[in-house]
Amino acid sequence: MNNFTFHNPTKLVFGKDSILELPKLLPSDAKILLTFGGGSVKRNGVYEAVISQLSGFQTVEFWGIEPNPKVETLRKAIALGKQEGVTFVLAVGGGSVLDASKLIVNAIPSERDAWDLVLHGADRSVQTLPLGTVLTIPATGSEMNRGAVISSEATHEKFGFYNEYPLFSILDPSYTYSLPDYQIACGIADSFIHVIEQYLTRAGESPLMDRWAEGILLTLIEEADKIKAQPADYDARATFMLSATMALNGFISMGVTQDWATHRIGHEITALTGLTHGHTLVIVLPALLREQAGKGKHAKLLQYASRIWGLTEGSEDERITQAIDKTEAFFRSLGLETRLAERGFGDDLREEIVRRFRERGTLLGEDQDIDHEAVAHILARC
Ligand code: NZQ
Ligand code: ZN
Repeated sequence: MNNFTFHNPTKLVFGKDSILELPKLLPSDAKILLTFGGGSVKRNGVYEAVISQLSGFQTVEFWGIEPNPKVETLRKAIALGKQEGVTFVLAVGGGSVLDASKLIVNAIPSERDAWDLVLHGADRSVQTLPLGTVLTIPATGSEMNRGAVISSEATHEKFGFYNEYPLFSILDPSYTYSLPDYQIACGIADSFIHVIEQYLTRAGESPLMDRWAEGILLTLIEEADKIKAQPADYDARATFMLSATMALNGFISMGVTQDWATHRIGHEITALTGLTHGHTLVIVLPALLREQAGKGKHAKLLQYASRIWGLTEGSEDERITQAIDKTEAFFRSLGLETRLAERGFGDDLREEIVRRFRERGTLLGEDQDIDHEAVAHILARC
């Protein structure tokens, strides 16, 4: 097991009508910047539920944070926050609104440009504003981690930004009923692959982390079926929502080696095509596993084959091949295409991604053995 420090200060407030806790979670003298996406919260009643808890608080609203939030949009929110002298930010929406708000809370007190913060790291010379969140889509884990992913319209780039954890996050599974099937599918896939990025690396580092990770993977597979069969099943939604949080809040990464190559390649696909985050991952992961199967992941792939897919017969290579096929079939059962060509993407996209990794000299994966040429092989299999 590797050395580690674990510290996750986010207060998780979970369950039906948990929004009623909101007034108690906010400083009474706060001037609050409310951040929103494109309007789903107006249609499903979440906006009303939030506003009804804010009487007596001073609030300012910022609307229009898009999926894969763009720094160009966020500069407007930051300017509004500075102008109004807000002291607290409350993000209401999905991972995109939450991620955007993690940048906004650091940029409001800072003199630095928001994209500079993304490229060169958070401004530690200022006091980041406190952030609370009301989550409406289980997927990213952003509600209980310190990461954010921000895009630039100008350069068609998408990069991670790391700063503070949210102070609190309110998760009401009933808010997810209004999600389109496609977003549910992408959320399940994203959560599943967050676990894979932390689990499917080296064998034997932590039996405890392995069991927790496997527990989340098996739960997601089970709940996916239940949600499909019975969309209004509250307990299935709740279990999915908690699984998504637990998949990326640090609880399954203690002392283990992580990968994240699938995410890095997926971010380039989104940056260049706009394809939804979770969908890019289901295209990249099976190809990456096939490409890497004979390398460092071999032992862990066998464990994954046995414990997740019950594959214990046949040669080692056969079991691994079947496990990857079953993984891809699971993604397809969610209704997601798993090949670039099925989305109409061809050579141009692949060449541009490889060019970017070559230019940046990027090395990916837990063994840092995926260079731009390996990325080309992976994309060819996509
Ligand atoms: O904008 P609105 O109108 O609210 O609509 C959103 C959006 O169109 C809609 N939606 C959200 N909740 C809804 C709803 N529609 C109906 N009912 C609801 N309850 O869903 C669409 C997608 O929302 P978005 O926030 O983009 O989805 P998600 O939560 O999947 O976030 C994706 C972003 O998070 C980043 C991704 O790269 C992407 O930019 N990630 C963040 C991570 C993190 N912070 O740790 C890790 C992840 O790997 C990921 O990279
Ligand atoms: Zn993800």
